[in-house]
Amino acid sequence: MQIEIFELERVQSLWENRVEYNLTESGVHPYTLNELLGEEGAAALANVRLGYGQTNGSIPLRESIAALYPGAGSDNVLVTNGSAEANFVATWGTLDAGDEIVYMVPNYLQIRGISRAMGVTVRPLALRPELAWQPDLDELNTLVTSRTKVIAVCNPNNPTGMTLEPRAMAAVVAAAEHSGAWLFVDEVYRGAELDARDTASFWGRCDRVVITGGLSKAYALPGLRLGWLVGPEAFIEAAWSRTDYTSIAPGILSDEVAQRALEPALRARILERNRSLLRENLVTLREWIARQPVAMTLIPPQAGGMAFIRYDHDINSTVLATRLREEKSVLIVAGDCFGMDGYLRIGFGAEPAYLQRGLDRIGEFLATLA
Ligand SMILES: Cc1ncc(COP(=O)(O)O)c(C=O)c1O
Repeated sequence: MQIEIFELERVQSLWENRVEYNLTESGVHPYTLNELLGEEGAAALANVRLGYGQTNGSIPLRESIAALYPGAGSDNVLVTNGSAEANFVATWGTLDAGDEIVYMVPNYLQIRGISRAMGVTVRPLALRPELAWQPDLDELNTLVTSRTKVIAVCNPNNPTGMTLEPRAMAAVVAAAEHSGAWLFVDEVYRGAELDARDTASFWGRCDRVVITGGLSKAYALPGLRLGWLVGPEAFIEAAWSRTDYTSIAPGILSDEVAQRALEPALRARILERNRSLLRENLVTLREWIARQPVAMTLIPPQAGGMAFIRYDHDINSTVLATRLREEKSVLIVAGDCFGMDGYLRIGFGAEPAYLQRGLDRIGEFLATLA
């Protein structure tokens, strides 16, 4: 099976550890184990026996995850290696050649890449900058038909940081119900809202809904590679049988750390630390944008550590990002990686001083263009 290059991941894999300033991350400056658990808590992990563990995730972990989705139980949860594996097994298990998927764009293009490789027809549902990155609901209703097998949305969205308005959520659910399609919702940025309100989950809004989540973004723990699927029991059971072919099990240390991170008191502390860092850094970023010699427009993100910025200059986004990396050792994501030239995705979840220095270097580079 041929599969297209996943540009966003490839660019990051190639360069993120070879530049002085990596501003491609969409999450928040990650924790160390000592910061997360305290030295005693971290040291206690030394006693964990390094077996395979429970391959769909330990029962306590699945119970903690289920508690985040009212009405769900541990059998509604499959723990995976990152939300990337969750998306993979859900897609692989549901779609076949000749099927149709209605797919929100711009987006983290993993599900699109897998679908295309399988011979699935991908019908893009555009988020519209003129609607503050909401979809056009008439377009949604035209795109979704009885042929649609899956509707896939990312909420909050990567790269725009948009969260769907209640009426858009209701329209997506209604479209799924009318068509009989599965509704896949990647909610990995849920919990990383910049204001105090949680993004509403799609869980429980229709029978055929499958949620992707994980600890990489809102929890600032991407190195654990800890994600999950939440869905109807039969769907989760089938997805579990597919992880026998991918990674067998989540890492046992990650399962242990995740159990602790999801304890209510620590979970609340983690989310607050991350949200307050994002709030502070977004101010820095917006002030920086206002000072730039090249005009830029940002519809402020509602969640996540990324800003999808439109720039007003006739340089291609890949050329811009490549020159910035080569000339200033700063890595950002070109809009081209999302099929949207004229945009840049800048991660602002880093430590404040690091972010500021990285932005200063981008500013120096932009001055040479202007
Ligand atoms: C929307 C979305 N889903 C899934 C992933 C994969 O993340 P992970 O496997 O680290 O959970 C990403 C990573 O950027 C993402 O943006």
